[in-house]
Amino acid sequence: DHTTTDTLRTPIVAVLGHVDHGKTSLLDKIRGSAVSEGEAGAITQHIGATDIPLDTISGMAGELIDPTDFDLPGLLFIDTPGHHSFSTLRARGGALADIAVLVVDVNDGFQPQTEEAIDILRRTGTPFVVAANKVDTTPGWNSQDGQPIQRSLEAQSERAESRLNENLYEIIGQLSDAGFSADLYWRVQDFQKNIGVVPLSAVTGEGVPDLLTVLMGLSQRFMKEEMAIDVFGAGEGTVLEVKDERGFGATIDTVVYDGVVHNGDQIVVGGQEEPIVTEIRALLQPRPLEEIRTEKKFEKVGEVGAAAGVKIAAPDLDRAMAGAPVRVVRDRPVEDVIEEVKAEL
Ligand code: GTP
Ligand code: MG
Repeated sequence: DHTTTDTLRTPIVAVLGHVDHGKTSLLDKIRGSAVSEGEAGAITQHIGATDIPLDTISGMAGELIDPTDFDLPGLLFIDTPGHHSFSTLRARGGALADIAVLVVDVNDGFQPQTEEAIDILRRTGTPFVVAANKVDTTPGWNSQDGQPIQRSLEAQSERAESRLNENLYEIIGQLSDAGFSADLYWRVQDFQKNIGVVPLSAVTGEGVPDLLTVLMGLSQRFMKEEMAIDVFGAGEGTVLEVKDERGFGATIDTVVYDGVVHNGDQIVVGGQEEPIVTEIRALLQPRPLEEIRTEKKFEKVGEVGAAAGVKIAAPDLDRAMAGAPVRVVRDRPVEDVIEEVKAEL
């Protein structure tokens, strides 16, 4: 029912994994975009955020999802870099997440930044699923574009299927070595006890319906209470990037993970020397399905509720810091909020 929908927070889904294992490509498939192709050397260098509405998710999941089962508004995907030099960004992305997708190249299996990502998820206690990506590169593979993975498996030769299975069981073994009991997702009864592995391809889209279904199920079942937000709560967020925006000066790309941010709100933002106290001049929202990192046509909005990616324009943001907290002051003494922000830095 509608009152529930309006007060449920969009879950934040972090996408983590080793460099080139296909995180951005997976999001491109879901968005219908080509962000990865525009990246220098296909290397992601910043955290991104994209809002995927429920109707897009249920459209892609097709027969696997009955959208009336869900009252979550959608999913906010956080893309992270896999290159070894960006460990701070991976940790930041992991810390923001309600749930996570660990992307593993099915041929390469666990690699150093896969292990690093697992450590982050363990440390933060974030529930996750494994996307065993690039199944289409299995020798002899017969791609079934956009299909659920069972449909795709039915179309494979025995030889191709058993090659894939070898790789999948290798990954399940590696998860077990890392201390997680895991299995192919359709064999998992309790996603709190076992990690589900979803074979898929970010290029052909097969298995992506399954991943979206598992993510929606996870969010809905285990996180519903955590997803209920105070719709009038003072907004809280994290700075992804400080960027100059024509006509606005320095702006901060922000993930709002709780409460609501209004245009005109007084905010406190973590800065390079000390917290910045300023007032929002414009709230610029990327369109749904657009990556905030590459969006060019932001829409000016009056307010934004969690979870969402939003560009905030305000005076004095040039000294703001990526990774720093953003807090709406609302009815509290500004000194208290400054202390809160300092405590988080
Ligand atoms: P970083 O952000 O730098 O860590 O990389 P990433 O994990 O985002 O990888 P990205 O999506 O940029 O993909 C790396 C390369 O793998 C690109 O050339 C993709 O086209 C290719 N790739 C990704 N997923 C698949 C897949 O499912 N099948 C095939 N054949 N290629 C894929
Ligand atoms: Mg990437």
